[in-house]
Amino acid sequence: MPNIVAISGSTRRASFNTMLLRAAIERVPEGTTITVGSIRDIPLYDGDVEATSGIPPAVQALKDQIAGADGVLIVTPEYNNSIPGTLKNAIDWTSRPPADMARVWGGRPVGIMGATPGNGGTGLAQAAWLPVLRTLGTLPFYGARLQVSNAGSVFDAEGKLVDDKIRGLLDKYMTTFAQFVARHGPR
Ligand code: FNR
Repeated sequence: MPNIVAISGSTRRASFNTMLLRAAIERVPEGTTITVGSIRDIPLYDGDVEATSGIPPAVQALKDQIAGADGVLIVTPEYNNSIPGTLKNAIDWTSRPPADMARVWGGRPVGIMGATPGNGGTGLAQAAWLPVLRTLGTLPFYGARLQVSNAGSVFDAEGKLVDDKIRGLLDKYMTTFAQFVARHGPR
């Protein structure tokens, strides 16, 4: 049974991207399992810390979770038309040490989606992920796109997805991504 680890790029309590991640979990097709990976306790990358103390426990846990998954779903906010530094910092840590990068990321299917209260749907952040995914040696998923704009009206006050159009796009995304993971995942 293919399993996917899903990571929200925001630790904010009322995060739209975490709402989107939860909606994605609800829409995952039968036969695929999905677990949540967290960036919350990951410290700022510091080469001195890595040299003296090695990989921090929160980073090691995320690395092992990714390495044990058949695919990864990154739900990314957009900051200043690019990747939020917090999320990039977490993913940068998971690429350390370089000798372990292939175990964690090599050939692994990765999907990107994101939500914003603005109009751009995180399209620029999603595009900014592409060179990162290439450098990590992943297998990016291009089979569907999900760029959620105006997130304030797509989710209700409880964080529930209430937009039928986005629900349809999310269904299509999760179905095709799960198929892609089942076909190309590293199991
Ligand atoms: C933003 N935001 C934002 N939104 C967007 O669509 N394009 C952008 O370039 C930016 N830039 C930006 C920079 C910084 C520093 C912040 C803090 C925010 C708004 C952003 O989409 C909004 O805060 C979201 O709510 C963040 O995602 P979560 O926390 O709701 O998941």
